[in-house]
Amino acid sequence: MGAQWGDEGKGKVTDLLAEQADVVVRFQGGNNAGHTIVRGDEVYKFHLVPSGILYPGKLCLIGNGVVVDPRVIIGELDELRRRGVDTNGLRISANAHLIMPYHLLLDHEGETKLGKLQIGTTRRGIGPAYADKAARLGIRVQDLLDEKILKQKIATALEPKRQSLRPYAKDPSLDLHTMTEDYLRYGHRLEPHIADTQRIVWDALDSDGLVVFEGAQGTLLDIDHGTYPFVTSSNPIAGAACVGAGVGPRDIDDVWGIAKAYVTRVGAGPFPTELDGETGERLREAGHEFGTTTGRARRTGWMDLVALRYAARLNGLTGLVITKLDVLTGIDPLYAAVRYLGPEGSRFDEFPYHQSILHKARGDYVELSGWHEDISGARRIEDLPQAARDYLDFIAEHTGVPIVMVSVGPERDQMIWTEAARRLQKVA
Ligand code: IMP
Repeated sequence: MGAQWGDEGKGKVTDLLAEQADVVVRFQGGNNAGHTIVRGDEVYKFHLVPSGILYPGKLCLIGNGVVVDPRVIIGELDELRRRGVDTNGLRISANAHLIMPYHLLLDHEGETKLGKLQIGTTRRGIGPAYADKAARLGIRVQDLLDEKILKQKIATALEPKRQSLRPYAKDPSLDLHTMTEDYLRYGHRLEPHIADTQRIVWDALDSDGLVVFEGAQGTLLDIDHGTYPFVTSSNPIAGAACVGAGVGPRDIDDVWGIAKAYVTRVGAGPFPTELDGETGERLREAGHEFGTTTGRARRTGWMDLVALRYAARLNGLTGLVITKLDVLTGIDPLYAAVRYLGPEGSRFDEFPYHQSILHKARGDYVELSGWHEDISGARRIEDLPQAARDYLDFIAEHTGVPIVMVSVGPERDQMIWTEAARRLQKVA
C-alpha cells in the first residue's frame, strides 16, 4: 500500500515481491498510476499492467476494482511485446469497469470548470468512470464481447451527460457508432486476457500460494479517508484489496505500507510538511520528483509522522518499507513532524478530520542528525551510518510499525531486506 500521497516507490517493491509471488493483483485505480521499474539498462513504465509482468508467465491480474482504459492497456501490451516481454500471464477481470472517451472529456471539463479550485487530477477519466460505476451506468470489460449490449449501454450512459458534453458535441470520439466499433475492436484484442480473476486468486490462496495485492496511489488520496476532495476516486487502502480483488479480510496475512523517507504530493490539497524553499527544490531534483504519468513536478516536504501513523492505523500495517533514503544524504539536519500545529496555538497529535484545520496545519518538528556518507551500496541495516539508522528507528518508533525493507537507490539490488522481509522470501 502507498502510505503517503502516492509515488512512494511501490513499483520497485512490488516488482521484488512479485518475483516470489504466484499471483500479483491490482485492485483499484487505473492509469492515473505510474510505476517505473529499472532492470539494468532497461527502464519500464507501466500505468495499468501489474509490475509482475516482467517475470515470464507470472499471473498478473487486473481486478474488478480497477478502471481500465482499453487503449492504454493495449498500448502497454504492444510495447511490452515489442521489447520481447511475454504478456501471456495478464488477466483482466470481466467485471472491471472501462474508461470511455467521454470520461476523459468530463474529467477535463470538470477540472476546467473548477478553475482555481481544481483538484489537479491526472485527467485520465478516473473520477467520471468511478462515478458511472456507482451510478450503475458503467460499461464493464465483459460488455466488450457483445455488440448489442455494448451499444445499448453506451447509449444509456451518454444520455444523462448530453448537457455536460455539449462543448464536445462534434468530437468524433463521441459518435455512438464509432465508439462501439472502437471498443469492439479493443474487446477482440483483449479477449484472450479477459477472465474470472477472483477465482484465480482463490485457487492460488487455496493451494497456499503467495498472492501480492499491489496498491496504487496512496492512503491520503483515499476517497473516504484522505484529504477529500483532493483525493482520487477509489480506496487505495488495504481494505479495498478485498473488495477490488474479491477476497475476504482473513485472506490477507501481511500489510506493508510503502513510504518515502520524505514526502511528496502531486496535485492540489493540504500538505502540512511542505517545503517551498531551497530544501524542497533539492529534494525534487535529487529524488527526480516528476510524475511518471503526467510529468508534473511533485511538491516535496519533510517526513510527516502524523500522517504516517494515520496510514499505519487505517491500513493495519504490519510492516513499513522506506524508500529513497539515499535522497536524504547530505541534508543535515533533517526534520520529521511528530504533530501538527494549527491556528491559535492548537496542537494535533492525530491526523485532523476537519479540512479547514488540515489546510492550515503545519508540522511541529523534531530535529534529527543527517548523514553525509554515500549509502547507495548498503545492503544490510548495519551498513548504514548511525544517523540513518536513528532516522529509521525514529520512524518505526513513532508509527509503531517495524521497518521491513529500505530502498537506497533505483536499481533492483539497491534494497536492504531485513529478517522479516527475508522470512517472506523463505515462505515463498
Ligand atoms: P485522479 O486520480 O486522476 O482523479 O486525480 C486525483 C488526485 O490524485 C490528484 O491530486 C492526482 O495528482 C492524484 N493522483 C492520482 N493518481 C496518482 C498517483 O498514482 N500518484 C500520485 N498522485 C496521484
